[in-house]
Amino acid sequence: MAVLHCTSALLLLFLLQASIANSEPFIGVNYGQVASNLPPPSATAKLLQSTLIEKVRLYGSDPALIKALAGTGIGITIGASNADIPSLASDPNFAKNWVDTNVVPFYPASKIILITVGNEVMSSGDKNLMTKLLPAIQNVQNALNAASLGGKIKVSTVHSMAVLKQSDPPSTGSFDPSFGDLMKGLLGFNNATGSPFAINPYPYFAYKSDPRTETLAFCLFQPNMGRVDANTKIKYMNMFDAQLDAVHSALGSMGFKNVEIVVAETGWPYKGDDNEVGTSIEDAKAYNGNLIAHLRSMVGTPLMPGKSVDTYIFALYDEDLKPGPGSERSFGLFKPDLTMTYDAGLSKGQTPSTPKTPETPKPVTPTPVSNKETWCVPKAGVSDAQLQSNLDYACGRGIDCSPIQPGGVCFEPNTVASHAAYAMNLLYQNSDRSPGNCDFSQTGTLSSKNPSYDACNYPGGSA
Ligand SMILES: *[C@@H]1O[C@H](CO)[C@@H](O)[C@H](O)[C@H]1NC(C)=O
Repeated sequence: MAVLHCTSALLLLFLLQASIANSEPFIGVNYGQVASNLPPPSATAKLLQSTLIEKVRLYGSDPALIKALAGTGIGITIGASNADIPSLASDPNFAKNWVDTNVVPFYPASKIILITVGNEVMSSGDKNLMTKLLPAIQNVQNALNAASLGGKIKVSTVHSMAVLKQSDPPSTGSFDPSFGDLMKGLLGFNNATGSPFAINPYPYFAYKSDPRTETLAFCLFQPNMGRVDANTKIKYMNMFDAQLDAVHSALGSMGFKNVEIVVAETGWPYKGDDNEVGTSIEDAKAYNGNLIAHLRSMVGTPLMPGKSVDTYIFALYDEDLKPGPGSERSFGLFKPDLTMTYDAGLSKGQTPSTPKTPETPKPVTPTPVSNKETWCVPKAGVSDAQLQSNLDYACGRGIDCSPIQPGGVCFEPNTVASHAAYAMNLLYQNSDRSPGNCDFSQTGTLSSKNPSYDACNYPGGSA
């Protein structure tokens, strides 16, 4: 038994290291250029290669940066501006020239993966631009097809969360009906070409409009009471998942639940004007650090479990020339001298951030020191909703939940109870193993009985 455990532990360690060595294909970053002090493109390319970031989104199509990324394997999203939309829509030749200038000379050495036509057009209120968006997208697609790049490079547009009329609770997510058939047309294009629906969810702005402590914890992926969706009985433990599931519901309500969602922007400012709440290094580090750990855990959202959506964090650098409140110029993960603004856990080879205790530490009655192995398991009679919430919580803390995902050795039995038990124990074993770390709002308990079965090993350990 002891030998078996040792081997499993080694195997686990090996698997863990193998997964750490790999980059994370779903982590991207936005490269905004409204700045006077950006590092040279070659330095940016080198910086990106030293991180887990696998994708970069440009708002335009700066050839110097696209060239600097050649051969790096980093995926590149480029953008056609709102100002180009009327010409792209009315003139197929303009679209052909756009592709011939901005894509053809660089591809495939520079791995362009997506072209976004326009930014937040549907929430701009500009009816003329909104009507021309789909024809512009179609002409860019036609131009790609003519260059034999159709399918290799996808075409889409980027939306703000304002395209949703309703997003709370997540199951009621729906698009603004005033779009009429325009949104349907865009989604039909996404669906027909396999291009993603790209959107900008910002829990930061949700907190800004509801600046309560409880909301901040919910937005920062920190311990909180959660929010129950009364329709589905799902308890959401963070705003990011709630916003994504609202988008998923909105897509489903239009009949397009299979269209892939991409987070084109999300982020948190580390600094702001005196009257701007939640703008601190601490909060920005909590949001982006916990977001990255959440994505790496592959737990997904309650309505889209077991996968991480491609997420472009805003932003790589500060943009010192941006107008507006101070926070607008303070979203950068890195400084112009290429050092980190704060450690968001993006360095290669770094283990996902250490799990924290789910509850504020309680005074714990001194327990006799014991060398016996213990495991953290759910108490009897705990509801599936609570177990689901424990599962989401634990897997959002950077532990490796791949064994309970499809194909994993602990996937069967495919029940919330079994998956939650695995995740709760793993989080506990990765902590300092004080009893408080198996509390889970009083739904967990320590057991001396090893829950491992078949090939599914529950790591154990003594306090
Ligand atoms: C989405 O695309 C699939 C495959 O092309 C097609 O079968 C389906 O009808 C489309 N859905 C909608 C709502 O248009």
